[in-house]
Amino acid sequence: MQVDGRSMVRRAAVALVAAGAFAVAAAQGASGADPRIVGGSPTTIDEFPATVIFNVNGAQHCAGTLVAPNKVLTAAHCTDGVQASQMEIIGGQTKFSDTSGEKAGVSDVWQNPGFDMTGMQHDNSVLTLDKELPYAPATLVQSAGDAAYQAGADVTVVGWGTTSEGGDVSDTLLKVNVPVVDNDSCATAYSTGGNSYDKASMFCAGVPEGGKDSCQGDSGGPAYVDGKLAGIVSWGQGCARKDFPGVYTNVGNDYADISSHIG
Ligand code: ARG
Repeated sequence: MQVDGRSMVRRAAVALVAAGAFAVAAAQGASGADPRIVGGSPTTIDEFPATVIFNVNGAQHCAGTLVAPNKVLTAAHCTDGVQASQMEIIGGQTKFSDTSGEKAGVSDVWQNPGFDMTGMQHDNSVLTLDKELPYAPATLVQSAGDAAYQAGADVTVVGWGTTSEGGDVSDTLLKVNVPVVDNDSCATAYSTGGNSYDKASMFCAGVPEGGKDSCQGDSGGPAYVDGKLAGIVSWGQGCARKDFPGVYTNVGNDYADISSHIG
């Protein structure tokens, strides 16, 4: 598809169509969605210096987080079926369209073997870059028992994704704050429609009334709690819908695997 002249792949949406899960709901579009990441505000790369653009074949695809000078953590649904040679990482840019940031190619991809497009569990991949990037890497939450995952914890999500469900991507980096939703409520919210919420490898964040969320194009990007990387933008039913929080990879749960591939 073309969005603002940039082609953007919506891999998860495609996957969910294939899975017969949220396809219909996702295609219907939301009513009353607000502008910005959804419901967020502009930020800068200086505030979140580890945030990187993840292009495929030269077009906007996903986001990621620099976790070492030559390593990027992103979503597995962003790397599934994509060759390393097609990938490009760009750091240091507040605006998607400016060309001030440093670029790196990808020499190796580790995709969590527990991931599949149907279940979306363990939605994480580590990219090895072909050079080091001069931006400050993020620190990871190291355990699923971390306070970051307690209901009500304040999650900050950033990205260049669409500012409403089915809407346009943002040229400026946006951020939004949403509280962690307790696991049981999230499992209940996502208990219909044949899809599954995995309490171990995922967590949810959002407000009951909707209006604030990550959205298409934000996938793979960072979700911070107390300045540490707690989550990766993964999936949701539409974006910013009432009673459907955004779902994020639980980085703490998969920390041992992830960190062994960061080195
Ligand atoms: N899967 C989407 C992507 O590829 C991200 C969806 C996040 N959805 C949400 N409601 N938080 O960009």
